[in-house]
Amino acid sequence: MGLSDVLPDNWEANTVGGCALSDLADAYGTPLYVMDERHVLDRLATFRRAFGAQTVTAYAAKAFFCIAMADILNRADWWVDVVSGGELATALAGGLAPERIIVHGNVKTDEELETAISVGVGRIVVDDPAEMARLVSIAAGRPVRVMLRLNVEVGADTHQKIRTTGSEAQFGMTDAEADAAIAQLADAVSLHGVHIHIGSQLRNPDVHVMALKAVLTFAERRRDSFAGNQIDLDVGGGFGVPYLADDPVVPIERFAEPLLEALSGHPGIRLMVEPGRAIVANAGVILYRAVSRKGADRPFLAVDGGISDNPRPALYDARYEMRSVSRFDQPHDTMFRVVGRHCETSDRLGEMLLPGDTAPGDLLIMPGTGAYAHAMASRYNMLPRRPVIFVADGQHRIAVPGETNDELVR
Ligand code: LLP
Repeated sequence: MGLSDVLPDNWEANTVGGCALSDLADAYGTPLYVMDERHVLDRLATFRRAFGAQTVTAYAAKAFFCIAMADILNRADWWVDVVSGGELATALAGGLAPERIIVHGNVKTDEELETAISVGVGRIVVDDPAEMARLVSIAAGRPVRVMLRLNVEVGADTHQKIRTTGSEAQFGMTDAEADAAIAQLADAVSLHGVHIHIGSQLRNPDVHVMALKAVLTFAERRRDSFAGNQIDLDVGGGFGVPYLADDPVVPIERFAEPLLEALSGHPGIRLMVEPGRAIVANAGVILYRAVSRKGADRPFLAVDGGISDNPRPALYDARYEMRSVSRFDQPHDTMFRVVGRHCETSDRLGEMLLPGDTAPGDLLIMPGTGAYAHAMASRYNMLPRRPVIFVADGQHRIAVPGETNDELVR
């Protein structure tokens, strides 16, 4: 537990991956998403080690995706999980083998299903019986490997907006609906597994085990319906990460060991996991520049970004750390209300301890922003989306270019 758990692994005195943050700000401007590439590679390797070679590890593209990220996944021998035609196109453009792509989503258009079938993706996760019927019809005899998304009541210990099972969640099927979907398997559409994703940012490994046991019972009772009697059992993602210096850190082995243990004695079942946040969240920081300061008590400090580059504080009351780059060595002992530049009061990055003399022009970083920040960025108030820079070994490169006002005008 500590600030170092929240920061990228290769952070040292205002440098990330050997690149000085002030140099990056000069080169690319602010706000700027900076990702520590070696941190990402390390998390991918840690998952593979913890879950073992027998487990399929698929990265949830929704957390953060681009061609450079697909390339990293290829190097680390990972699969990817996508939920839209755009994520699928990026995975393919990034050179990921189609058979290592899992297509998810409670809404898949006919066009998206057609593309997934024609490129031959590894798995399509069917969300309801009607979708199964549509899939069989679109496949028209072409082979498709499907999994069933189940919705099982498991109390997830997370914000209600990122809980994805139970009667309040629109995802997946009850056992009866899943049976109705199985009854529609036809032609070359074959069943390969079951899937559940309970929620995101979960810190109690028991919850994953409860979910696994629930879908395991479902699958074992219907083993004959699965191709070759082999079952892929995908427990989704949701592995929690620290955002604040005093947040607990749950090592990935604490999730992996009980899940693998629960499957021992069940031959012919392969575990699959789909982490997103746990791979990239702590690899990333957003670099901001302070623009104005107002008031004496808990002063407002306004920065040059906000809800458009990271909507998580406004959406989920997510809390983050902040550190001054310009005044790195000074005590961070004065409470500021750090706000963004958007025209609404909800545009608050949080109450942050910073040096008392923090002033307009200072550079600040917000760590823990590698997941679901760039991925959820918008162009609210017609701000162009900002670039993502990968850093490693003192080198920096553009992973996602920023947008320009000309592009916005178009
Ligand atoms: N697999 C499926 C089917 C999912 O729906 C998700 C996340 C994941 C894997 C990856 O979950 P992770 O390991 O990243 O927790 N925008 C929210 C997060 C929503 C995640 C929804 N599904 C946030 O910013 O917290």
